[in-house]
Formats: sequence, structure tokens, C-alpha cells
Amino acid sequence: MPGPLTGRRIVLGVSGGIAAYKAVDLCRRLVDAGAWVAPVLTPDASRFVAPLTFSALASEPARTSLWGGPEPIPHTRLGQGADVVVVAPATARVIGAYAAGISDELLTATLLATRAPVVLCPAMHTEMWEHPAVQANLATLRDRGVHVVEPGVGRLAGGDQGPGRLAETDEILAALERVLGPRDLEGVRLLVSAGGTREPIDPVRFVGNRSSGRQGHALAEEAASRGGLVTLVTTTSLPVPAGIDVVRVETAAEMEEAVLGRSDACDVIVMAAAVADFRPKLAAEDKIKKADGVPEVVLEPTTDVLAALGRGRRPGQVLVGFAAETGKLRERATEKLRTKGIDLIVANDVSAPGVGFEHETNAVVLLGGDGTEQQVGLTAKREVARIVLDAVCARLGRGGDSSGDDSTERG
Ligand code: CTP
Repeated sequence: MPGPLTGRRIVLGVSGGIAAYKAVDLCRRLVDAGAWVAPVLTPDASRFVAPLTFSALASEPARTSLWGGPEPIPHTRLGQGADVVVVAPATARVIGAYAAGISDELLTATLLATRAPVVLCPAMHTEMWEHPAVQANLATLRDRGVHVVEPGVGRLAGGDQGPGRLAETDEILAALERVLGPRDLEGVRLLVSAGGTREPIDPVRFVGNRSSGRQGHALAEEAASRGGLVTLVTTTSLPVPAGIDVVRVETAAEMEEAVLGRSDACDVIVMAAAVADFRPKLAAEDKIKKADGVPEVVLEPTTDVLAALGRGRRPGQVLVGFAAETGKLRERATEKLRTKGIDLIVANDVSAPGVGFEHETNAVVLLGGDGTEQQVGLTAKREVARIVLDAVCARLGRGGDSSGDDSTERG
């Protein structure tokens, strides 16, 4: 029976660790599942397992070098043609080179030459796995959307025990199936807002907040990668991948106009932006001079965009809000869910370490208008995006799973 791996082109990267022998089984299982498998071995991997072993099992001969093969530029052909690149085992060196953008051999060159999703399956000794440099590199890669299948705990080379053992083949296959799974937002029109608004006091000063916009951008990118037609209304200048329609705004009023003006055409609206609740009533035309004394800044309320969406929503539209709190998280978020008339609220305690504003990571609670609740521990913002969009898909009746817990891949 065809499955998510059938007919997919998979580059299987193998780097130099003792777990390289397990990649042979992975290779065979991928071929059995109907995938086209192109193995790429690092020079060190070839010390553990002969390239011939992979060549005999895979869909095409194993490659081990940028040089001397039949094609002049193998990494771009492999990278461009792949539906997914999986590296199992991924050593600390490969992880480090990939995070730093160094293409020192065929596998790292292929990783940099691909726009396909990448799944890394690290395997190394516990001391190396727990080293802050390795963890920092993985955090960087996760933030870029790379999937990491965490190693297990068990016997390591040399008789040592501990975390660092390559994940089981079944786990790696499950991760690949999920990455290549159905494009469950195909054709769905989504609007995502991101970043903190800036409300001018004068031409050089503003009232702002600490939102970086990263969570909203991660939501937009994840939605697009699942086939969604995405408009991102953002206050940031962060780069946005091709295929996402970007509207750059600065103030709450511009955000209001951009969002409300497009809302009728949207199936899903996710308000991840930190919209100012108050703005200076009057912004000075010229810079306020210090010599003129301390100015009195009078504030006025802005429109609550999300509440306006909740009042004017069209049938079937899914509305998602965020709640940034510094205490009484559930209570306050539940109240916002109710008063704003939305389907789902993503609540985070922004006073907790590593959470929310200015961080690469987030920890949230997803509360549904139907009483559902899902806790997501500290993880990459892209992973939070994936979970939020699973919940959105479930509400759209598109087979998303808002309750599944596959923390092995979440890290
Ligand atoms: N929001 C909005 N328009 C505003 C303020 C907030 O659309 N003027 C949206 C945010 O994008 C977010 C949600 O409302 O999705 C909650 O924002 P938050 O700042 O946590 O709550 P507030 O409504 O501002 O309430 P409070 O100040 O009491 O926390």
C-alpha cells in the first residue's frame, strides 16, 4: 500500500560514528517503503561501513565525495532533487558544520544545497551530546526548521551507557513520515500577524514592546510548508521565504487596517502580534527637545483587532489569539478566549526563563474554546507553530492532531 514515503526522494546522509551500521537497516527499510534512496557517506562513515553495502541496498550508488564522481556538482543535484534529507547518524562535526554553514565535504554541501526538510538523528557519546556547543548548534538548527530526532539512552561504543544512542529505526521512519506527511493546509488561506507594534511619540521615539516576531514568522513558515496560502502581516524586518505574501506594518492602526481589510478572505487568522493597547494621542511632528522639559505623553486606546475579528467573523473561520501573561496564565487566557470570541488561545508566561519575547524558544498552553487544553514544554518556536497548526487543522476538519504527543522529536 502506498504510504507517505512511497515515491519520495530521500537523501540518506551517514556520518562517521559506530551507529553508521544501523543506517544500513534504515536504508533497506526506506527502500521497502517505496522511497528512492540516495546514500551520501562522509569519509569517516566509510571507515565504519563500506559504501558498497549502501550501494547494494539503495536506489542509486552511494556517494562519498564532491570530487571524482560521474557528475561535476553532485551536491546541488542531490540537494535540489530531494524531498527530504535525513542524516543518521549525525555526528557533532556534521551538526556543527551545518549550523555554521560550512560545506567541507559532500554531505554538508548537500545539506546547504537543499531546500527540502532536513531530519537530523544525532548519535554520539553522552559528554559530546550534552556539550553546550552541540546543544547550541542544535538549537540554531531547530530554529531554522530542522527536525531533530533525539537520541535514546542506552549502550554506547566502548561499553559506556547514557544518552547519545541513535534513535530506533522505527522512530526515524515515523519522523520522516510525519515530515513528508500530507500537506494538510493545502489551499487554506491563512493570515498571521507578527511582531510588536511601535506607536510614535515623535519622529524618533516610540512606545513599543519586547516582541521579536519570531513566533509569528515561525507560524507563517510552517503554514506555508504545509501548503497554506499565507499572508504575513509583520512589524519586523526578519527575512521571509518566497511564497509568503508579506505586508510590513509598524503601528497598531496599520496592523488593524492590514488585518481587518483582509480578514473576509481568510479561513484562518492567527494573531501572534503584540499589538499595543495604547498609543500616544498625538505624535509630535518634530523631535521633542530635551531643553523643552519633560513632555507629558497622553495615551489613548487602540482597537482590539482580535476582538473585532471575533465579532465580525464569517462562518467556519478559525481565529487564534495569543496571551502573553506574567501570572494567572490559565485564568487570564481563558478569559481572553471568551471575551474575544475566538477558537483557540496560545498562552505563555513571558516571565518564565526561555519563554516568549526575545527568545528562540517558547513554552505554551493551548486552550480551546471547546474546553481542550494542551501543554507544550520549552521547545523551538517552529515546533510550537507545528503544534498550533495541528490544532487549527483539527478545527478545520483536516485531520490534524491537536493531542498527539511525540516529545521524542520535540526535544
Ligand atoms: N490583540 C489585538 N489587538 C490589540 C491587542 C491585542 O488583536 N489591540 C490580540 C493579540 O494579537 C493577541 C491577543 O489579542 O492575540 C491578546 O493580546 P494580549 O496583549 O495578551 O492581551 P490584551 O487583549 O492586550 O489584554 P491585557 O492587556 O489585559 O493582557
